Amino acid sequence: MRGESLFSMERLVGCRLCRRSRWRTLRSRWLAASLTCTVLVIYICFLDLLHSSMHFPVLWETSSPPRQVTVLIWYEPFGKRRRIADCHSLFNITGCQLTTNRSLYQEADAILFHHRDIIDFFDFPLIGRPTSQKWIWMNFESPAHSPWLNSLGGVFNWTMSYRVDSDIFMPYGYLFSRMLPKIILPHKRKLVAWVISNWNEDHERVQYYNQLREYVDIDIYGRYGMDLKEDNIVKTVSEYKFYLAFENSLHTDYVTEKLWRNAFKSSAVPIVMGPSRYNYELFIPRNSFIHVDDFSSPRKLAAYLKFLDKHTHLYRRHFLWKKRYDVHVTSFWDEHYCMACETVKAAGNQHRTVSDLATWFES
Ligand SMILES: *[C@@H]1O[C@H](CO)[C@@H](O)[C@H](O)[C@H]1NC(C)=O
Ligand SMILES: *[C@@H]1O[C@H](CO)[C@@H](O)[C@H](O)[C@H]1NC(C)=O
Ligand SMILES: *[C@@H]1O[C@H](CO)[C@@H](O)[C@H](O)[C@H]1NC(C)=O
Repeated sequence: MRGESLFSMERLVGCRLCRRSRWRTLRSRWLAASLTCTVLVIYICFLDLLHSSMHFPVLWETSSPPRQVTVLIWYEPFGKRRRIADCHSLFNITGCQLTTNRSLYQEADAILFHHRDIIDFFDFPLIGRPTSQKWIWMNFESPAHSPWLNSLGGVFNWTMSYRVDSDIFMPYGYLFSRMLPKIILPHKRKLVAWVISNWNEDHERVQYYNQLREYVDIDIYGRYGMDLKEDNIVKTVSEYKFYLAFENSLHTDYVTEKLWRNAFKSSAVPIVMGPSRYNYELFIPRNSFIHVDDFSSPRKLAAYLKFLDKHTHLYRRHFLWKKRYDVHVTSFWDEHYCMACETVKAAGNQHRTVSDLATWFES
């Protein structure tokens, strides 16, 4: 028997309805028959109630104190061992036990599976999957860098990713409210920066860069360019007016730390290449960034950048958002684990299976 509170609710409502129909049938001529029927119905309802109180205790437990939740981290992301977070001291979230100890499998309320570490099914817990346990698929890579998706339908209960429509939505960053009387920008002597470690001539972003640099100087940092100042991206990029926040592949909601940390934290105007402008505007104000699609060619974009370089008051308009918002950059992986735990704590007992992972994630 599965502990589904929804099912028992339906049965209780059903009972109330059948009680009403009982009075109607009493008035009919088929007294004997209906009496038998009523007795039967009451009997069934009674059994049902008994049944639900035995197997579906959740309905009557709403006022009990919040319980402790155990979340088992099946793979440490990218095979790297880390100290496990204390959700209470970090985020004021109580009642979370995070563990990587697989012996706790049977008692875990949820298991987190980091997609990129899935090698094959035989590494999954194969037997005795508790029916109320939630298997959470966790992934922050884009579909282009997420192999295997097709073979993972029907395995997981929840998804956790950068996509807004995930069961647990965890963006790479976000803006939060904060009022400031005056915007102070770091001193900027240089024009355009780009930090890149994964250089691939086939990537759209490299092809765009190759055209753009014909018209405007771009400083390249990372494995193929200059060294970062004290290994610090924000410190380095803060000296620039613009930053190329080009994603490695273009997908729905796929907006990474290239925007939140590299550009916004450095107070450099992001020039974005990723999902559509419309998609970006779900997350950030329309004037806070420049989209490559705003211009019909790299040459025209370059002309606009040079124009803003000369007109400081227009350049500064791209920072109007700073009067009302500050940037939060999500910290891997503490925040993710604690958010998962908090969601498990808050969730009911509904059952759900992610049947077509690939179709959803690649859409
Ligand atoms: C921590 O959470 C508790 C209960 O939700 C709340 O009363 C308290 O103010 C929070 N403390 C901080 C420092 O946010
Ligand atoms: C894992 O949990 C089991 C069962 O509670 C315990 O006996 C074992 O010592 C734990 N292992 C580690 C490495 O903590
Ligand atoms: C999780 O998914 C499995 C596989 O489809 C399913 O049997 C189980 O009932 C689901 N559990 C929950 C809590 O959703």
